[in-house]
Amino acid sequence: MLKGVLNYAHYLLEESVNKGETVIDATCGNGNDTLFLSDLVGQDGHVLAFDVQELAITSTREVIIKHGKSNVSLIHDSHANIKQHLPKDERQTIGGAIFNLGYLPKSDKKIITKPESTIKAMDDILEVLKKNGLIILVVYHGHEGGKEEKEAILKHVLHLSQQKYSVLQYGFINQKNNPPFIIAIQKNKQ
Ligand SMILES: C[S@@+](CC[C@H](N)C(=O)[O-])C[C@H]1O[C@@H](n2cnc3c(N)ncnc32)[C@H](O)[C@@H]1O
Repeated sequence: MLKGVLNYAHYLLEESVNKGETVIDATCGNGNDTLFLSDLVGQDGHVLAFDVQELAITSTREVIIKHGKSNVSLIHDSHANIKQHLPKDERQTIGGAIFNLGYLPKSDKKIITKPESTIKAMDDILEVLKKNGLIILVVYHGHEGGKEEKEAILKHVLHLSQQKYSVLQYGFINQKNNPPFIIAIQKNKQ
């Protein structure tokens, strides 16, 4: 069976992230990916979860408290500032990262991820990602501003060095209404 995009995103992270690693949820929203990553890295690991919206930080806090998770740091800031928030001793050891682009479901559709900050965050994470680590972008693009972000990201990743990175696009091409797709970037060399 072909996996849906969210299942495939999680599958790729399961295949590449190890227990005890530091990982990043660049857009924590309602906390679903944060919870997934928290389980993946286990008690000795660390999840850095970013969001610009107070509502998203509150929702994710509720999720991690409900599930008794103590390995998550919630960061109420743009992922464009990721570098400032990396713990000193964890800087070269990021095990993986996920971005869910677009807006928070059932919330303000004007608060969306933007091309400049998404691309800056991706590039900053690529610098500190472990060898064979993955950055996963789940690209939603049906909303206002989504097309511009999609195009900017595709243009950017198309030009990443093929020696240093392998870039995969995964999605269903016969679905209606701008279905989301995945971009997965694997770092081949340290
Ligand atoms: C599609 S939602 C994320 C859904 C989330 N992964 C989940 O499991 O519920 C996108 C989120 O990105 C957040 N966002 C937008 N711009 C951001 C930025 N520059 N830095 C961090 N988060 C941002 C929005 O506030 C929103 O919560």
